[in-house]
Amino acid sequence: MKTLIKNGRVIDPANGIDAPMNILIENGKIISVSEAGNEDADKIIDASDCWVVPGLIDMHVHLRDPGQLHKETIKTGTRAAAAGGFTTVCCMPNTSPVIDSAETVKYINETAVREGAVRVLPVGSITRGLAGESLSEIQKMKQAGICAISDDGKTVENPALFVAALKLAKELNLPVLSHCEPEDEITERDIKLAKETGAKLHICHVSTAKSVELIRAAQKAGQPVTAEVTPHHFTLTQNDNPNGKDPNFKMAPPLRTPADRAAIIAALKDGTIAAIATDHAPHHENEKNVGYENAANGIIGLETAVALAISELAGVLTPLELVAKFTSNPAKILGLDLGHLSVGATADITIIDPAATSIIDKAKFESLSKNTPFHGREVTGRVVCTIIEGETICLQTA
Ligand code: DOR
Ligand code: ZN
Ligand code: ZN
Repeated sequence: MKTLIKNGRVIDPANGIDAPMNILIENGKIISVSEAGNEDADKIIDASDCWVVPGLIDMHVHLRDPGQLHKETIKTGTRAAAAGGFTTVCCMPNTSPVIDSAETVKYINETAVREGAVRVLPVGSITRGLAGESLSEIQKMKQAGICAISDDGKTVENPALFVAALKLAKELNLPVLSHCEPEDEITERDIKLAKETGAKLHICHVSTAKSVELIRAAQKAGQPVTAEVTPHHFTLTQNDNPNGKDPNFKMAPPLRTPADRAAIIAALKDGTIAAIATDHAPHHENEKNVGYENAANGIIGLETAVALAISELAGVLTPLELVAKFTSNPAKILGLDLGHLSVGATADITIIDPAATSIIDKAKFESLSKNTPFHGREVTGRVVCTIIEGETICLQTA
């Protein structure tokens, strides 16, 4: 069975392609990318007026499974991912139990194969139980298939323990994804510690101008430091939170100043920030509607990321640059053979209508949680279709 995606604008940053092309898929693989239009196919997808891009990769997602299934599950979270155009998500370890053992990695892998709509790559915790006291069984988790390590949600406070983790990560060729709190201080510390060990450090959800500066300086000095930004940090500032009291504008790190937001957008443009990642953080109403002070940190992001990126960044980034932030760049950071449309590649493909306008409606979300500050926002750009290993999933929620 052959599927042809025709008439689209193929944007494939890894191969430097931005041109009208047709893509032919068979047995879950891309078998040709060409200007010719008449390949014999059993199924034709007409991508007129659309971008045809590598399946998007979100390297920072909270799926809440195991243990917090009232917020999200592997099933609902991956359906939200597919609806948002993502074909691969990396799930953070602050679950219950924490992803700190090969056994829990195995649980996630098996559940994702059984119930998941997209590819799920678990991130193992750095410390056992996220307690910051001793290292998790990182080597065994690597064998079980983790793509990185992180104590996301927390900073590893003990510098000696963090250095031990960096050394092991370097040995195992695993990136270390760092949640820096307080952001600037820990970003500076982690860059310094990573430099001493030669490990690959990735700074999660960068939100301040100062952290951008620190990362840029380290990169200029040749250090392998990378960074991501969330759609909410490049879209919103602290001034957008109505009276400072709407719990759907509460997250860690928090929304910052317009100057910070401008620095982040400049860092996306100059490449200091290579990836856009959602930090999709589902919470139940009962954990949000408890007064601002007591509300849980975090907002969902999988189903709004593409539209926000196109709406906010299309005037700043070229389409190739924008698509790279969701595909080839995160693939490179994680060392994955994904995020490109080469002949022979896994047929993970996302089709996006960059001009379609819509109003974000949380009632249409696949996610089990609805904690978004973007409900009712008018946006441009819509995911039309998500193809995973040649299988088409069209969950239009926008
Ligand atoms: O806002 C956040 N929510 N930041 C984090 O680092 C953790 C996340 C969560 O797990 O809810
Ligand atoms: Zn975090
Ligand atoms: Zn997170």
